[in-house]
Amino acid sequence: MTLSGTLPASGADALDLAALPRDFLWGTATSAYQIEGAVAEDGRAPSIWDTFSRTPGAIDGGHTGDTACDHYHRWPEDIALMRELGTNAYRLSVAWPRVVPGGDGPANAKGLDFYDRLVDGLLAAGIQPSVTLYHWDLPQALQDRGGWPERDTAEHFASYAGLVAARLGDRVTQWATLNEPLCSAWIGHLEGRMAPGLTDLTAAVRASYHLLLGHGLAARAVRAAAPAARIGIVNNLSPITPATASAADLAAARRMDGHVNRWWLDPVHGRGFPDDMREVYRVDLPERAGDAGTIAAPLDWIGLNYYFPQVVAADPEGPAPHARQIARPGVPRTGMDWEVDADGLETLIMRLHREYGPRPIHITENGSAYPDALAPDGTVHDPERTAFLTSHLAACARAARRGAPVAGYYAWSLLDNFEWAYGYDKRFGLVHVDYATQRRTVKSSGRHYAGIIAAHRAG
Ligand code: FCB
Repeated sequence: MTLSGTLPASGADALDLAALPRDFLWGTATSAYQIEGAVAEDGRAPSIWDTFSRTPGAIDGGHTGDTACDHYHRWPEDIALMRELGTNAYRLSVAWPRVVPGGDGPANAKGLDFYDRLVDGLLAAGIQPSVTLYHWDLPQALQDRGGWPERDTAEHFASYAGLVAARLGDRVTQWATLNEPLCSAWIGHLEGRMAPGLTDLTAAVRASYHLLLGHGLAARAVRAAAPAARIGIVNNLSPITPATASAADLAAARRMDGHVNRWWLDPVHGRGFPDDMREVYRVDLPERAGDAGTIAAPLDWIGLNYYFPQVVAADPEGPAPHARQIARPGVPRTGMDWEVDADGLETLIMRLHREYGPRPIHITENGSAYPDALAPDGTVHDPERTAFLTSHLAACARAARRGAPVAGYYAWSLLDNFEWAYGYDKRFGLVHVDYATQRRTVKSSGRHYAGIIAAHRAG
């Protein structure tokens, strides 16, 4: 069925819902530090984000995740909201510093109990949990011992992953090791805009290596603890095009593609780290015999987070990869200043399928921030987010029609939340959060999503 009457859909946005499989997962996504709050409760220890958010000037407005959406206490209400949207899947992350506060060493029973209750609550509501083990909140204790640039961190990650899988693996089957290791390595260690806030290429490249090693070791640990586990990794990818046809821009686009896409995809698919990028970084990788095979642990599915494409020009004086993103005039942008380009999602899905597949592809995040306001009548009218959602789902459906196994879509995000260095002012939720009262209000985009889900189910 192509939706026409019941939902606004036209031209390129026409949403061919029948292209999506009957058992499609309609989800929303969040992450622990962005919504939970309760940072000092029940034995949780600080993570690098608690530290970073207390660094003067690091976060807009001086915001922190101390309270966030208070999801740690309000999760039953949040599950009720998922039900109201009609979703049948939810992507959450487990906070390592809640479960193993010291990074390694003993588990914190109360931390595990929280996720145990949450998983039971989701299943009782008919919502399948998809659990991400690392969404950037490294225990500060491990950062104090060197963090991701050190090999031990990868090993501790695997031990923690095994613990979580042993506790939840009888009920959770969908597991992701890492969320967007690109951000942890490049933004956290090279650009300094995210925790731990370093600007050091050697640390960044070493971190990238140990993150992917940690992925492989954790995949093995999760499988050992939970044999039914279906394991994936979540990457944020961008289609890259050169700004001009000059040789310099073509080479820059190739480097940016290596930096953003291939560095993260090739090793986990058994192709090793790309040689051209080793030449760009010129940092020795801390490789040991056997690591390449560990990093290429079998993947049951692949997660794609998509936000924007990149048009790229050469930037010889700039840091690696000596390429910079160009703003295209006339292209609509979200409140993050990110270009809106739904075709980019279709392009990426097809590339993953053709170059790295075949295996199920989950759109583990996709969404948009706009400066929403709660209207006096208590509603939040967000037509731009509704259009963004519809056009990107249409892109998924087009890719599915072309044969890509698109298995699920998780809207980022269920709730407005702590948007990292941007604090609370960037709102991505399908549900509005009034931070003064913690009152939740489903936005019109959330209602639209519910309508799409219902139409697909009825179809
Ligand atoms: C992604 C992150 C997610 C959220 C969105 C907007 O890079 O994985 O936590 O902040 O961007």
